[in-house]
Amino acid sequence: MVKIALISGSLRKDSVSTKIAKNVGELFPTGYETEFIEIGQLPLFNEDYEQEGNTPAEYTAFRNKLNEVDAVLFVTPEYNRSFSGALKNALDVGSRPYGQSVWNGKPAAVISQSPGNLSGFGANHHLRQVLVFLNMPTVQQPEVYLANSFELFDESGKFNNQGTIDFLQSFVNTFVDLINKYKG
Ligand code: FNR
Repeated sequence: MVKIALISGSLRKDSVSTKIAKNVGELFPTGYETEFIEIGQLPLFNEDYEQEGNTPAEYTAFRNKLNEVDAVLFVTPEYNRSFSGALKNALDVGSRPYGQSVWNGKPAAVISQSPGNLSGFGANHHLRQVLVFLNMPTVQQPEVYLANSFELFDESGKFNNQGTIDFLQSFVNTFVDLINKYKG
């Protein structure tokens, strides 16, 4: 079984990013298991936590979960033309201790969304910059920028149009190909 972490850059209860992550998680084929991993419980990263015996329990649990997955799908809103601080914190937590990053070498994919027309381009590309440094081979095409994102769902929280589902299915298929390329 190949495991894929779903990470949302929004902590909001009714987050569209989280809804997108969960909907896209259902598009993976048999043999691929997705798990939504929370980031809101992580204390703000502080290098003092790296001293012996000082590691928050939330950090250890988060790192252990990420160590068990083969790949990561990020879905993020745009905050002030970048991705959210909560997501940056999670990326920083997972990147330490130095030399033990949970992200290293794991295939990734990025979706950005916004309620307006701009669709989180700034968030998407700032996140991609960080993933380069974290050594995460990332799906290049298709890029996924979801505009008018509040209108993508029906009342049960599922995607409400086949065009979006078909496009995201092709994105997932490309992600699966990338995962298989890197899986030993
Ligand atoms: C925003 N929003 C926003 N939208 C956008 O398209 N570009 C931006 O730069 C910003 N900046 C921004 C900053 C802050 C602090 C907040 C709280 C919001 C709006 C944002 O796209 C909207 O709240 C999203 O719907 C949030 O996604 P979730 O929470 O539904 O996943």
